[in-house]
Amino acid sequence: MAENIYPIFDKMLQRNDREALLKQRGIMIWFTGLSGSGKSTLAIALERELYRRGILCRILDGDNIRSGINNNLGFSEADRTENIRRIAEVSKLFVDCGIVTIAAFISPTHAIRKMAADIIGWEDFLEVYVSTPIEECERRDVKGLYAKARRGEIKEFTGISSPFEAPDDAFVSIDTTRQPLEESVRILLEAIEPKIRMQRV
Ligand code: ADX
Repeated sequence: MAENIYPIFDKMLQRNDREALLKQRGIMIWFTGLSGSGKSTLAIALERELYRRGILCRILDGDNIRSGINNNLGFSEADRTENIRRIAEVSKLFVDCGIVTIAAFISPTHAIRKMAADIIGWEDFLEVYVSTPIEECERRDVKGLYAKARRGEIKEFTGISSPFEAPDDAFVSIDTTRQPLEESVRILLEAIEPKIRMQRV
């Protein structure tokens, strides 16, 4: 604890109060997967469906965060770790507001995802592995980055010249080549919705 700093948490309203106001539980839905695997697409579609059901969400997404709060970070292991650390700290504030917080970041290693869960709290952390195979991500190459990485124009590109460690025990896994988007969202909703409703299940 820093010297001369006096936190006032005990005087503030609590998370429970905010959750009661919103009639939902704050949770973290943490998408992990390769670039182009479909994390953002799934996050956006999931948010829309939850919104339709009256649930307040907030998406935090790689390209948005990296052009704002994290615009000084690159893709070295140290920078990716700092990227995720800041995102996890920010997410924790959202979750503490009772908001269903949806993160869509590659978050490539076990250690990085463990750090995020440690910061946010394991009981609130639902990991969704978007397991679309790299061949498909590269075939899609929506942003043209795989082609650049193959030509050596991007260093430390995840899956090509930087590691991706698949999660061992994700809460849900979604391979976007297996079913259409609507079906993937249905699978996610079925798993996640009970965690959001006020009664803990
Ligand atoms: S993470 O590894 O630190 O979690 P993050 O999700 O924030 O990555 O950012 C990934 C996005 O940055 C990719 O979808 C891609 O658009 C872009 N990008 C640029 N350079 C790289 C790189 N070397 N490796 C991976 N993604 C990169």
